[in-house]
Amino acid sequence: MNITRRPRRNRSSAAVRAMVRETELTPAHLVQPIFLMPEADTRLPVSSLPGTFRLGIEEVLREMEQYRKLNLNSFIMFPAVPEENKDKTGTYGLEDNFYLEAARRLKAEHPDICLISDIALDPYSSDGHDGLVLNGKVDNDATLPLLDKMSVLQAEAGFDLLGPSDMMDGRVGSMRRALDAAGYIDVGIMSYTAKYASAFYGPFRDALDSAPRQLQDVPTDKKTYQMDPANAREALLEATLDVAEGADYLMVKPAINYLDIIYRLRESQQLPIAAYHVSGECAMLLAAAERGWLDYQQAATEALVSIRRAGADVIITYFAKDYASWWQQGVIQ
Ligand code: PBG
Repeated sequence: MNITRRPRRNRSSAAVRAMVRETELTPAHLVQPIFLMPEADTRLPVSSLPGTFRLGIEEVLREMEQYRKLNLNSFIMFPAVPEENKDKTGTYGLEDNFYLEAARRLKAEHPDICLISDIALDPYSSDGHDGLVLNGKVDNDATLPLLDKMSVLQAEAGFDLLGPSDMMDGRVGSMRRALDAAGYIDVGIMSYTAKYASAFYGPFRDALDSAPRQLQDVPTDKKTYQMDPANAREALLEATLDVAEGADYLMVKPAINYLDIIYRLRESQQLPIAAYHVSGECAMLLAAAERGWLDYQQAATEALVSIRRAGADVIITYFAKDYASWWQQGVIQ
């Protein structure tokens, strides 16, 4: 055979493959999500996401010991708010609450972690929407002052990075001004820049019981604010606006079905790119693994590596803890 170029030579052993590997994925790139319950000692499984739990603060602190041993140092926390605390304006998110109290405890006991918040009304809203519903519409401009107030409260509680996940127009700039005016110049914004109206958020909405409600005069999906899965150029527009408004990170969500969006943002923007490997993406892989149809460790690793390869600096994933323990055991090849 007259073959001069033989790419297989660079795949010939584990040592060679490790040497020429282009994409690195370590626990430092991963963010572990935490679903927080108000009752301090509870631990409740999320049935649509095996291995993920809703935890009270004492349980979170116990888990935290394990996370830290695995070199997981970044966390994004979401509150599971009891139904009786929800109302149309999300009042509970705009006053002192168990979520802010938990942030204070976590940062007091683990000052060196990076703690990321969620900024949106949906965990607190009896309508199940990220913004305020007025006259049958999710009202953009009426929502912004509420997000600003939530931002200042979360910054005060000690969150390092705020994560606006609501897709209202102008919210990054509005939050930045509110934070600066209150003196929180060092608190960053990880903007959900291109968040799609995706079918893959199901287990998350189960965990928080936060799906849009079937009520009269309330829209039953999030398509007037989350992006159309068919659009890519629009993600570039969102990114340009977030940069101009003062975001510190640009996030794409979900991740696997949107690798092209991650790649385009990586090519066109200078800010760090985060990808949210969302609940449904993790759930389908876990379901297949449970049936013995896929190898969990290999499939999860491949999914996470593909997100990094597309250009994400940071990955938020429900597989963080498992990946970090495989990493520590040395089973990642
Ligand atoms: C809502 C929010 C959602 C997620 C993070 N923040 C769900 C939604 O938009 O309904 C989904 C994350 C996941 O599925 O893992 N503010």
